[in-house]
Amino acid sequence: MRFFPLIPVLAFAIFCSFPLILGQQPYIGLGTTACPRRGNPHSIRGYTCNGVNRSCQAYLTFRSQPIYNSVNTISALLGAEPSKLAEINQVSRNATFETNRLVIVPVNCSCAGEYYQSNTSYVVQNADTLFLIANNTFEGLSTCQALENQNELPRGDLFSGTRLAIPLRCACPTINQTEKGVKYLLSYLVTWDDSVSVISERFGVYTNSTLDANTLSYTSTIYPFTTILVPLQGPPSISGTAEPPPSPSPPSTPFSPSGGNSNKTWVYVVIGVVGGIALISSLAAIIFCRVYSKDKKKDVPVIVSQSQSQSQSFEAIEKPKGKILLDGESEELSEILSSIGKSLKVYSFKELRKATEDFSPSFWIKGSVYRGVINGDLAAIKKTEGDVSKEIELLNKVNHSNVIRLSGVSFNKGHWYLVYEYSANGSLSDWIYSSNIDDKFLNWAQRMQIALDVATGLDYLHSFTCPPYIHKDLKSNNILLDSYFRAKISNFSLARSVEGEEDQFPMTRHIIGTKGYMAPEYLEHGVVSTKLDVYAFGILMMEMLTGKEVAAFYTEEKVNLSDFLSAILDEESDQERLGDFMDPSLHGNYPTELVKFVVRLILNCIDKDPVNRPALHEILTFLSRTLESSLTWETSMNISANQSLCSRSS
Ligand SMILES: *[C@@H]1O[C@H](CO)[C@@H](O)[C@H](O)[C@H]1NC(C)=O
Ligand SMILES: *[C@@H]1O[C@H](CO)[C@@H](O)[C@H](O)[C@H]1NC(C)=O
Ligand SMILES: *[C@@H]1O[C@H](CO)[C@@H](O)[C@H](O)[C@H]1NC(C)=O
Ligand SMILES: *[C@@H]1O[C@H](CO)[C@@H](O)[C@H](O)[C@H]1NC(C)=O
Ligand SMILES: *[C@@H]1O[C@H](CO)[C@@H](O)[C@H](O)[C@H]1NC(C)=O
Ligand SMILES: *[C@@H]1O[C@H](CO)[C@@H](O)[C@H](O)[C@H]1NC(C)=O
Ligand SMILES: *[C@@H]1O[C@H](CO)[C@@H](O)[C@H](O)[C@H]1NC(C)=O
Repeated sequence: MRFFPLIPVLAFAIFCSFPLILGQQPYIGLGTTACPRRGNPHSIRGYTCNGVNRSCQAYLTFRSQPIYNSVNTISALLGAEPSKLAEINQVSRNATFETNRLVIVPVNCSCAGEYYQSNTSYVVQNADTLFLIANNTFEGLSTCQALENQNELPRGDLFSGTRLAIPLRCACPTINQTEKGVKYLLSYLVTWDDSVSVISERFGVYTNSTLDANTLSYTSTIYPFTTILVPLQGPPSISGTAEPPPSPSPPSTPFSPSGGNSNKTWVYVVIGVVGGIALISSLAAIIFCRVYSKDKKKDVPVIVSQSQSQSQSFEAIEKPKGKILLDGESEELSEILSSIGKSLKVYSFKELRKATEDFSPSFWIKGSVYRGVINGDLAAIKKTEGDVSKEIELLNKVNHSNVIRLSGVSFNKGHWYLVYEYSANGSLSDWIYSSNIDDKFLNWAQRMQIALDVATGLDYLHSFTCPPYIHKDLKSNNILLDSYFRAKISNFSLARSVEGEEDQFPMTRHIIGTKGYMAPEYLEHGVVSTKLDVYAFGILMMEMLTGKEVAAFYTEEKVNLSDFLSAILDEESDQERLGDFMDPSLHGNYPTELVKFVVRLILNCIDKDPVNRPALHEILTFLSRTLESSLTWETSMNISANQSLCSRSS
C-alpha cells in the first residue's frame, strides 16, 4: 500500500541545474528570506523567465499594515495603479484597509534578464536592513538576493535616503499552464497555518494545479513570508481575500467608510459563505478521518507551515490512544504524578508563570516552547496536550549528556508543562539549512561532532536503557545544541520501548513520524525496530551534509535516493557532483575522502532492508574515527592557512 509517493529525488539539484525543464516554478521555501550572501541564487532572485510571454499582467497579494494600509500607500509601495487596485478589491480610491487584510495588487510583470519581476522602488529609512525591507516591509514579495542583485550596494551598506530598485516576485504562465487555461499567476504571501489546499480553495483552483505551479508535492512544507504562485483562469476573485476562519468582523469599517451598507452586507455574505464552507469542509474532514482512519492518508495534503515549530511531526490520522488528561481526571493525574520519580520536580503553574513573565511573547522560543528563568537558571518550558506519561517515564529514567534532561513538570487546565534543560543554540535545523535567515553556520568538524553526539545518545537509548527505547521521530528539529554545540536528542513524545509495542498498538495502525525520515518497512508494514532510528539518522546526516531539508528531496519524479547517493560515489572523477551535493555554505571546506565515507555510511543507514542497516554501536565507532580524522584535517588546514599568511607577509 502506498501512503504517499515515497520517491525521494534530489529536487534541488535539478532545480539548480535545469530550472527550465521542470516547466513551472520551483517553490524555494525559506530561501526567500535567506539574507546571508551565499547559497544558490536561482529562483531566490525571482521566478524564472520561462513563460509564453516575456511580460504579462500579474497579481500580488499584500497584507495591509500601518502605514501601508490604504489604496494609495499600498499602490505607491508596490508600484501599482491605484485605480486598478481599488477596482479589483472593490473599494473606493480613498479606502483604507483594516490591518492584516489581504489586498490584491495588480502589477505588470516582465522579464529582466533571467527572472520575472515587477518593478517598484523604496527609499531606505533609518535602521533598515535588506532583510527588514524584503521580509517586513515587502512581506516577502522581494528577497535580499534580489535586492542585492539590482542595487549597487558596496559591502552591503544601506544609507537612509537612498532609493533602491525593488524587484517584486511575479511570474507569467508557462505554455503548459496556458494550455490548461491559466491566464494569470498570483504571487500569494503564505501566512501562519496556511496550506496549499486552503490557499487553492480560497482562489477556487485545484490544489494539484497550485502544487504543480510551484513544483511542490503533497509532502512539502510551506513557510510564512514566502510566496507561492496560484494559477488563475481569470482575475482573482475578491472572495479569496476573506480570511478562512469566519471571525464576524467588528463593526468598524470592513471596507471604506464610504462603502455603504449594501457593500458591507455583501462582505458579510462572502465571509459567511467562505466561513461556512470552511466549517463544513473541516467537519467533513474530521468525519472523513474518523471513518477512514484505517485507510492511509495519501489524499490529505497536510502542509504544515509553522516554520520549524516543534509540532511538525506528521501525524497520520490517528494519535496514539493514550490517556488524554483533563482537569477532572485527577485520579489519572495523581497516578502519573506519583509515578514521577523523586528526581523530577513538580512545579506549580504559578512558578512557571513567574518564570516566563506569564508566558509573555518575549519568552517565546518556538511552537509551544518558552524560555523561563527558574531559580536564576534558564530552562525550556514546553506546553503540551495529551499523554505525556511515556515521555516523562522515559526521560525520568535516562541520564545521558546527549539526551535532553527533563527537570520538572507542571499541570494546569488540561495542559502539561514539561521543564527541560535549556539549549542555548536552539535546534540543529536552525543551523544546517543554509537558507536560514540568520547567518548561522557549522563547519565540517562541528557537523561530525554533532553526528557523533546524536549517535551516542541513540546508542544509549537502544542498548543501555532497560527496556531499550526507540525514538521514532529523530529529525533535525529534535536535536538541540548547547552553548558548545554539543547535541542533545529531544522530543520523546513518540518514543516507545521495544517491548510492549505490539500488544498496545496493533501493527500498522499508527503511522506516526515525520515524512522523509520514516523507514520504508515502517511505512509499508508498520514494523517497529531500532532500525527505524538508524534510517532516520541516515537522513539526518544527509541533511547535515547537504544543508537541505529532506523535504527538498521529494518530488513526483521517480528517482531513488540511494541511487543518487551511489552516483556520487561512483563517479570518482566528477568532483562537481559532490560539490553540488554538499551544503554550499561549506564553500568546499571539507575533506573529500571523508565525505565519501560518510556518504557510504548514509547509504548503509537508509538501506531498504532494515537488516542491512548498521547498528548504532557500529555507527558510533565509525563516526568517532571520522571525527578524529576531521579534526586532524582541520588542524592541517589551519596550519597551511597560517603558513600562507606568514609567507605572504614576509
Ligand atoms: C510541459 O509539460 C510536459 C509534459 O507534461 C513537459 O515535458 C514539459 O517539460 C513541460 N514544459 C514546460 C515549459 O512547462
Ligand atoms: C501573450 O501575449 C499575447 C499577445 O500579446 C496575448 O494574446 C496572450 O494572451 C498572452 N498570453 C499570456 C498567457 O499572457
Ligand atoms: C502596465 O502596462 C500597461 C500596458 O502596457 C500600462 O498602460 C500601464 O501604465 C502599466 N502600469 C504600470 C504601473 O507600469
Ligand atoms: C472618498 O471619496 C469619495 C468620492 O470618491 C467621497 O465621497 C468620500 O467622502 C471619500 N471618503 C473619505 C473618507 O475621504
Ligand atoms: C525593471 O527593472 C529592471 C532592472 O532595473 C530593468 O531591467 C527592467 O527593464 C525594468 N522593467 C520594466 C518593465 O521597466
Ligand atoms: C518577517 O516579516 C513579518 C511581517 O511581514 C514579521 O511578522 C516576521 O516576524 C518577520 N520575520 C522575522 C524573522 O523577523
Ligand atoms: C487536478 O485534478 C483535476 C481533477 O481532480 C484534474 O481535472 C486536473 O487535470 C488536475 N490538474 C493537474 C494540473 O494535474
